[in-house]
Amino acid sequence: MSNNNNSNNRFCISVKNLVKSYNTSNIKRNTIDNISFDIDYGTVFGFLGPNGAGKTTTIKILTGILQPTTGSIKIFEKDIKNNIKEIKRRIGVVTQNPSFESNLTVERSMELYGFLWGNPSNMNKDKVREMLDLFDLTSIREVRNEDLSIGQRRRVQIAREFLHDMDLLFLDEPTVGLDPRARRNLLNYIKKQVKHGLTVFFTTHIMEEVDYLCDQICIINKGKIIEFDTPQILKQKYGSTKKIEIILQNPISKQIHDYFKKLSANSIDIENIENTENTFSITSNNPQNILLSTVNYLFQNNIQIENISLNDPSIEDVFLKALKNNK
Ligand SMILES: Nc1ncnc2c1ncn2[C@@H]1O[C@H](COP(=O)(O)OP(=O)(O)OP(=O)(O)O)[C@@H](O)[C@H]1O
Ligand SMILES: [Mg+2]
Repeated sequence: MSNNNNSNNRFCISVKNLVKSYNTSNIKRNTIDNISFDIDYGTVFGFLGPNGAGKTTTIKILTGILQPTTGSIKIFEKDIKNNIKEIKRRIGVVTQNPSFESNLTVERSMELYGFLWGNPSNMNKDKVREMLDLFDLTSIREVRNEDLSIGQRRRVQIAREFLHDMDLLFLDEPTVGLDPRARRNLLNYIKKQVKHGLTVFFTTHIMEEVDYLCDQICIINKGKIIEFDTPQILKQKYGSTKKIEIILQNPISKQIHDYFKKLSANSIDIENIENTENTFSITSNNPQNILLSTVNYLFQNNIQIENISLNDPSIEDVFLKALKNNK
């Protein structure tokens, strides 16, 4: 599977037949089981999958932390086997488990990080200030890293990565622990950098972020790729159905429950019905009919409706369906 819309076949990342196996209790298991994909320059690649699917392992291999068992990897069109040093200079990594210089203040640790990247000292201080400001860290710049909250730590970890210029950034669940404002801030900043040519390899479990950011989505399960395409195409592929959501003013009575039970049993057009205290979500490939008969029923029985909506499938629906089909 590859996104071959690049006629020169010049890819930022090109992975072929990648396998990573571990021996546990003398049984060899492929954690990464023969995956291949290409990523275009200047795009956001969303790498999705359930816990333990192999996302972090793949990132560790692509960033030279782990050795693959077999397979070939090219980054910036160069084999990582022989060029990892040169490649590392041009990439940034926000790992899932951050490491810290606990005793240093936020500002000092960032200055150190910039220095290690070779930033000239006069420019380094300015760059640190800029990033402190951008990631809303200025007011806590004197606090030691070990005294930070989890979300603040995450923000420092991300901010320090942007201290150096790079062409490719790996983000392994970067928004975990971030508050909504910090998350939106980060996503917008990434978008802006991508417009300027940055390529981003992005993992998350939050599907709205995928919708907002990703040009391509790759879903892996148990080390194998099960989907790879644009969000639009995947929504179409899994989107012959729509989701009807009906919110009632009052909690759902037994009478209404029975109505939906009957509707579900008698209609081949309904794929799934879920409910909360006062909401019904119906997934159907013939939503107009279902909607019409349901509204009719509710109206005739004098049941007050708070809101009705008809929605396309979300990336979350795509993700859940792809995994269900792959069981
Ligand atoms: N050193 C190791 N030895 C044996 N198995 C390992 C080792 N490292 C990782 N694994 C296994 O590889 C699988 C993939 O782990 P990985 O961390 O890549 O998952 P992930 O997709 O990043 O999951 P999450 O969403 O929870 O972060 C897991 O089943 C894990 O137990
Ligand atoms: Mg992981």
